[in-house]
Amino acid sequence: MLSYLGGSSAGRSRAGERPGGIIDLRIKIGTLLDMVSKRSSFLRLPLGWPVAFAFASAALVAAWAYSRTPNLQRGETLYMQHCAACHGTRLEGQPEWQKAGEDGILPAPPHDETGHTWHHDDAMLTDYIHRGGQAVLDDMGVAMTSGMPAFGEVLSAGEIAAILAFIKSRWPARLQAIQARRNNG
Ligand code: HEC
Repeated sequence: MLSYLGGSSAGRSRAGERPGGIIDLRIKIGTLLDMVSKRSSFLRLPLGWPVAFAFASAALVAAWAYSRTPNLQRGETLYMQHCAACHGTRLEGQPEWQKAGEDGILPAPPHDETGHTWHHDDAMLTDYIHRGGQAVLDDMGVAMTSGMPAFGEVLSAGEIAAILAFIKSRWPARLQAIQARRNNG
């Protein structure tokens, strides 16, 4: 009898362990869900979404400002390294740039508002810098020797874009707008 009771109580406690385990697990999951819902309940508040939106917008503006400044600075550094020797540190070009030299080659034109860089769309300018003046003039059937070297082997597409962004940043807003319109049509 005693041994039967002992056996049964031992059996009961063993049997009780298993449901206890599941109950334990349920409690843990329950607490977890409770925690999660407490966390996300912030987003259910009427103020939650506007606050989250404000933070996201602030982060976007900060990222935009960050991505813009270094791009122009990078463009300026690259311009000074690769272009300034011919096109001038102030983008002023070479003296008498509209008159070909004795060799028949035109001097480097300015990239500021006194030049004609802003007359061209981005695709043409990028191509000119990437492949060099000669390849582009040959393609256009213009019989002219170009003094503009190709930079496709030296500069990445991103670097050329950064240089163009820097050059454009020196134009008055009116010319920036005119050139931007050329890109759309
Ligand atoms: C060795 C001198 C030299 C260097 C360095 C040089 N260029 Fe030029 N570039 C010229 C000459 C000369 C021309 C004019 C002849 C021509 O258009 O083919 C020219 C023309 C251009 C034009 C065409 C402008 C227009 O209005 O038609 C662009 C754009 C240009 N260069 C951009 C650049 C950029 C950007 C760099 C630096 C990555 C650079 N150049 C470096 C000599 C140079």
